[in-house]
Amino acid sequence: MRDLFRRAGIDTPELDARLLAELAFGMERLELVNREREIAPTEALTRLQGYATRRLRGEPVVRIIGEKEFWGLPFTLNAATLVPRPETEMLVRRGLEILKGRTHKQMLDLGTGTGCVPIAILAESPSASAVATDLASEAIIAALWNADRHGVAKRFDARHGSWFDPLRVGESFDLITSNPPYVESADIEKLAPEVKDHDPLLALDGGPDGLDAYRIIVGEARHWLKPGGALAVEIGSLQNAAVRRLFIDAGFRDVAMEKDLGGLDRIVVGHHL
Ligand SMILES: C[S@@+](CC[C@H](N)C(=O)[O-])C[C@H]1O[C@@H](n2cnc3c(N)ncnc32)[C@H](O)[C@@H]1O
Repeated sequence: MRDLFRRAGIDTPELDARLLAELAFGMERLELVNREREIAPTEALTRLQGYATRRLRGEPVVRIIGEKEFWGLPFTLNAATLVPRPETEMLVRRGLEILKGRTHKQMLDLGTGTGCVPIAILAESPSASAVATDLASEAIIAALWNADRHGVAKRFDARHGSWFDPLRVGESFDLITSNPPYVESADIEKLAPEVKDHDPLLALDGGPDGLDAYRIIVGEARHWLKPGGALAVEIGSLQNAAVRRLFIDAGFRDVAMEKDLGGLDRIVVGHHL
């Protein structure tokens, strides 16, 4: 299989072949090696063939496996969820710093997808609780499942609806996070096939200039923040100036951008009062 993958130009043929074999046979690497001389069951071989065909057609391995690691935790995916990206862990790190020292530690995550950002924060911070919203009802199902899987379900409230719509009068938060869709509509076609053909459009399309979601989120966030609370959003690498301008126009103070490990502009944080 790995030769087939290599000939097809797949970047990591050995790794992909191993992960799909582990999935098809329900065994970890060592057991697979130890039992390689045994006759393989037909059902497992049929499964493996199916997975290989999907991979050769361009489906990413994480989509076939249905799971992706984020902040050291496995997150279950479905068709409505973005595959969590390593750079989004910056929101977790920054979010934990913002919550540290605050008494009630209530957070809101907008466009939660798998729930990776708030669930990682809750797993690290046992006294925190989170509300999370997403317009995709299937994403809400995945997020609830993941919260249960990581033992934080009692402190995690996922609600279906657009951005702040599912919130109740009087609710307020120490921290609001969001990794919203931020790709310019015209650029979606230019994305890698693994992304444009397999990540949901609702998770990618940020409107004509990529800033549609930021206008709503940054414009309304202060209304839902406690005094001293903060908004932290992930941005596309060319959106720093435009998003910081939105923060400043909305009345945030100490607005700052942070770069990711690759040196690209990645998150913008602003404080309320
Ligand atoms: C870039 S994905 C991020 C998902 C997840 N937070 C992550 O970092 O992996 C953006 C998410 O925003 C959701 N979304 C898009 N439009 C929305 C809206 N109007 N209200 C709430 N969520 C929305 C999408 O369904 C998707 O889950």
